[in-house]
Formats: sequence, structure tokens, C-alpha cells
Amino acid sequence: MKSTAVVTGASSGLGAEFARQLAAKGFDLIIAARRRERLECLARELEQKHGVAVQVFAVDLTKPDVLEELARLIQSRSDVEILVNNAGYGAGGRYDQADTERQMGMIALHVTAAARLTRAALPQMVARGRGAVINMASVVAFAHLPGSTLYCTTKKWLVDFSRSIADELAGTGVHIQALCPGFTRTEAMEGKKLPEFLWLTCEEVVAASLRAAERGSGVCVPSFTYKLLVFILRSPLGGLLSWARMARKRRKARM
Ligand SMILES: NC(=O)c1ccc[n+]([C@@H]2O[C@H](COP(=O)([O-])OP(=O)(O)OC[C@H]3O[C@@H](n4cnc5c(N)ncnc54)[C@H](OP(=O)(O)O)[C@@H]3O)[C@@H](O)[C@H]2O)c1
Repeated sequence: MKSTAVVTGASSGLGAEFARQLAAKGFDLIIAARRRERLECLARELEQKHGVAVQVFAVDLTKPDVLEELARLIQSRSDVEILVNNAGYGAGGRYDQADTERQMGMIALHVTAAARLTRAALPQMVARGRGAVINMASVVAFAHLPGSTLYCTTKKWLVDFSRSIADELAGTGVHIQALCPGFTRTEAMEGKKLPEFLWLTCEEVVAASLRAAERGSGVCVPSFTYKLLVFILRSPLGGLLSWARMARKRRKARM
């Protein structure tokens, strides 16, 4: 029997790349996002190139009723082997002033949608004794960045959520990954100016994630540069840097 992979946020960037690499491995797909034309175009490309079946689910996953519809579709099938909870975005601004709808949207996507779809997919994976859930977090899960409070904390939640389920499911053959990329070239990052060495490509991030998911559960941080950064952020030095930044801010506020 063919296996199916579900990818949310597949209309562009990292999600579209997950769909491409999974189709190349022979998975049928269910791809979800709001932009129907993008999804249909990708579905045609993958069906022609790899001979896989692709079902398009063009919806806003922040809406509880459509989220439930996708969850029930996943639950109704017995062939979902990979779920990639990738849909998401970063909306910034000081929290007392930030756009409420955009902020709540991050909770709806990064927390509620990921939690609901994972719950829908796991029972069949556990019953089969294999499968993987990849939750798209970020390296910012290991930092706290003023101006990106909910982005950082919802990504941190995804890391904790993934680790906790991974512990619960140890020995079942089902792997849970928190994927934590650094800056990756996607539409969402257009116009951002950064030193070249900080940029990752969608191809390398997705390939690293799928390789790691085959090996087992865990936190996947693609590239040596970002592994080093995460190591520093999680060490006492990370705490010290954060304390120094806050102290500088308080000093400035007093002046
Ligand atoms: N690029 C980076 O540097 C980077 C680093 C770390 C983590 N990430 C994470 O990677 C994920 C993908 O980001 P990306 O960089 O690939 O950006 P992107 O190209 O903008 O992709 C975001 C995807 O999420 C979908 N999406 C957004 N809101 C949605 C909604 N309400 N309902 C359904 N789908 C929705 C978008 O589709 P529609 O607009 O068609 O709905 C799109 O397919 C995000 O979770 C992001 O936080 C990115």
C-alpha cells in the first residue's frame, strides 16, 4: 500500500520543499494552505513528475471548523505515515501594541493546529508501528527576542510538545521531531539583509529533517553554524548574554 504524507503550509517555502522531497520519495500527499492556485500548481507538478496522488486542501487553518475537517480527514485514513506541521509565520511588534489578530493567528497555527493534527495522525502511526511527525519550530525557540514574543514562545512550545510526545512514544516506532532551522531563504524572508553564511536553503533544511526523522525522534537543527548557536544559547553564556541585553535596555530606559 502507498503511504501518504500531510504537509501544512505547502503553498510556498519550506512546506513546498517538503512536498517536493516527499513526492520524490514516492509518498502520496495531502497539501494544505490558503492559496489554492499555488497548491494546485504544485499538485500538478508533483503528479506529473513523480506519479503520486496529491490532494489539495485550500483552507485557513486558523479557523477551528476547517482545522477539524482536516483532522477528521487524517483520522479517517489508515495510510498517513508523515505529518509535517509547517504552516506558520512571524508577526512582530511590542506585545502591548502588536496586531491582535496576527498574534492570535500564531497561536492558532503553531499551537492549536499542530496539536490537533498530531492527535489525529498518531493513533494510526502507533497502530502500524511506524511514522513521523515533524513540527516546524525554529532556532528562536532557544532564545527570547523582545519584539517577537509570541513567535519565540509558540516555537518553544512546539519544541517542548515534540519532546514530550517523543518520550511518551519511545519504543513505538513513531518518531517525533522538532525542526529548528535558522534563517532560510523563502518568500517570508524576502528583503532581509544578512551575512551570506547565515542563510540556509529550503533544500538543505528539508533534506536534513527527513534524514533525521528516519533515524529517530529529537530536535533537528540543520547546519553546523546553527548547531553552535543553539549550543551557546542553551549554555550559561546564553543566559549571560540575555541578562546583559536586558541590563543595557534598563540603563537606556533610565537615561
Ligand atoms: N524561513 C525561515 O527563515 C524560517 C526559519 C525557521 C522557521 N521557519 C518556519 O517555517 C515555516 C514556513 O515558513 P517559510 O519561511 O517557508 O514561509 P512561507 O513561504 O511564507 O510559508 C508559510 C506557509 O504557511 C502557510 N500559512 C500561513 N498562514 C496560514 C493559514 N492561516 N492557514 C494555512 N496555511 C497558512 C502559507 O500558505 P498560504 O499563505 O497560502 O496560506 C505558506 O504555505 C513557518 O512555520 C516558519 O515559522 C522559517
